[in-house]
Amino acid sequence: KLLDNLNYKIDLSIIGGTGLYHISDSPSLNSVLELVQEIPIVKTPYGETSSPIYIYKTTKTSKPHYISFLARHGLDHQFSPTTVPYQANISAIKRLRSDNIVAFSSVGSLKQECKPTDFILPDQIIDLTKGLRAHSYFNELGLVGHISFGDPFSLPLRNYLAEFNTNESVIEDLHVNGILFCMEGPQFSTRAESLMYRKMGGEDAKCINMSCVPESKLAKELEINYQMVCMVTDYDSWRLSDKPVDIQEVIKNLKHNSVKAKQFIFNIVQNIESMSDKVGTPLKNNTINSISIKNVE
Ligand code: ADE
Repeated sequence: KLLDNLNYKIDLSIIGGTGLYHISDSPSLNSVLELVQEIPIVKTPYGETSSPIYIYKTTKTSKPHYISFLARHGLDHQFSPTTVPYQANISAIKRLRSDNIVAFSSVGSLKQECKPTDFILPDQIIDLTKGLRAHSYFNELGLVGHISFGDPFSLPLRNYLAEFNTNESVIEDLHVNGILFCMEGPQFSTRAESLMYRKMGGEDAKCINMSCVPESKLAKELEINYQMVCMVTDYDSWRLSDKPVDIQEVIKNLKHNSVKAKQFIFNIVQNIESMSDKVGTPLKNNTINSISIKNVE
């Protein structure tokens, strides 16, 4: 009920990934955002959300805008990429009447020029998960349904994020477009696998994570604009002269990236008044489902 009874609409929902569990510990964000509500972990028809949902109001805009924050892996990082309750998280965000999700995620780089601590806004996904996660809401609705997923991310949202984060070298190394691979994990890839992803994606192979599927698919089913912001922590294991994913280096870069992610969010908040004009409402799905298929007869 808490989710359905807010008397305002959320302009932007942020999902924090590994290393990004809070946004209220940033002095610059605190100067433009005020926490107005904490929705405790809620039970949805798909189980409980991974974390409470924190709702912030902008304080420096002519009228208030609302932003929500949820930690994908839980506040204590208790959910692995395989066990994250993706369906619950995305359905809770939908019930907040949010049209836009900006989802942060730590990734390994598959390209020399995408260095650790760089950020990437991918435009494509190659799904290599192993079928252990629920990828759709249609089953629960008792339907067979198919939606288009050719463009997994929202172009207007990606353009909007890029516009406010490339100028003035705030985020010096932001790469726009490229393929994000999604693997099951939890182990990182073998060297042979890592080299294979680079061949598979060619020039466009940019990075790999373990969480953009099914999150992006579920957001598309619920008609929410979705863009992942990838934060590079390592070079995966294709560089044969390097250690294959050095955990100490990953931890060091996670800390650096979390500071940078808050700067990225600050830049969005500073420009949130232009967001609805620039991004627009999400595209409606053209769904093929059991009912439309039977109607062909
Ligand atoms: N997340 C961070 N680094 C990663 C890597 N190398 N592979 C998969 N997921 C990652």
